[in-house]
Amino acid sequence: MSDTPKPDTQQILDRGKQALIGNYARLPVVMHRGEGAYLWDTDGKRYLDLFAGFGGSILGHCHPALVAAATEQSHRLWHVGNTFYTEPQIELAERLNKTAFPGQAFFCHSGLEANEAATKLARLRGGEHETKKWKVVSLNRSFHGRSLAMIAATGNAAVKAGFEPAVPGFTQVDLGDLEGLTAAVDAETAAIILEPIQGEGGIHPVPLEYAKKLRKLCDAHHITLIFDEVWTGCGRTGKWFAHQHFADAFGEIVRPDIMTLGKAMGGGLPVGVMFARPEIAKLLVPGRHGSTLGANPICMAVSKTIFDVVERENLLEHASQLGEHAISRLRNDSKLKGKITEAQGRGLFLGIQLSTEPDKTVGKVLE
Ligand SMILES: Cc1ncc(COP(=O)(O)O)c(C=O)c1O
Repeated sequence: MSDTPKPDTQQILDRGKQALIGNYARLPVVMHRGEGAYLWDTDGKRYLDLFAGFGGSILGHCHPALVAAATEQSHRLWHVGNTFYTEPQIELAERLNKTAFPGQAFFCHSGLEANEAATKLARLRGGEHETKKWKVVSLNRSFHGRSLAMIAATGNAAVKAGFEPAVPGFTQVDLGDLEGLTAAVDAETAAIILEPIQGEGGIHPVPLEYAKKLRKLCDAHHITLIFDEVWTGCGRTGKWFAHQHFADAFGEIVRPDIMTLGKAMGGGLPVGVMFARPEIAKLLVPGRHGSTLGANPICMAVSKTIFDVVERENLLEHASQLGEHAISRLRNDSKLKGKITEAQGRGLFLGIQLSTEPDKTVGKVLE
């Protein structure tokens, strides 16, 4: 190893600026290696990774179980396409059944693709209704992805700007504003899509009572309720899926008709999922939707192993406990008095509202 010539970081950065489109505000750092919660750059500097690849690397870097799963699968079968059955994707779909609700899975590569698939399926279902439902209502402050349809669903003007005219049929209302929501819904509304805990511009959990009313509204008007769990899925909030926090005193959970997943599902590999109740999923017959590389066996084997590790290492409980500890310290630590307006979220999906400019004190309390 010591004979390996030291990479010329500046030269790599210059090449990167030349070769890559500048649509990301990249930091002037070249990451070279990762292990657990740590990253090393090309100069050998170590970082504690609190970024986790936009939330993809849920088990950290190069987790041995994931490396083993990818290696083992890569020696057996890489890719065949969805003209055939393969076991890794069936096993993963079965894991979703066990941890979420009875449903069927469609696999793709990203959160936005999962949301696109969900919207298409909701429109297929809506098209069967006498009022030919096709419209979608979503929330302000939401994020659902960067395709043309998903920026139309996203409640953030900055994400839409420059890409007009908007795809028709999408409206946004404020979280919690039931009157506004009821007014936005009409006979042509096919779907309501929302994140159970919003994660853009702060962390905003959807209240249980609001979720219950949404479910009722959707049932009453044959509207497909889609929970976008792209960011909240796979254990991050201390439950497998954030909507499982929508439980009343009797343990009754407010469930969606369709749940979409991405990010953590692949542990850093490209995995998106649309998971739908079978009565709705059955409308997606051959020719209606698909993906060339979706359900790639290596990605599926890794994703399934994430479920194994989270279960084996009791990580749901761990995320809950760490989250409670962090919130309690953030709210009660005397050093932070006057600096934090609010700390909220579930498990390790937490947001802190600062009342001052960020400084080192906030980072320190989390140590
Ligand atoms: C809630 C939510 N939905 C959808 C997406 C889009 O996912 P992807 O970037 O994988 O397309 C994101 C990404 O940040 C997200 O947070």
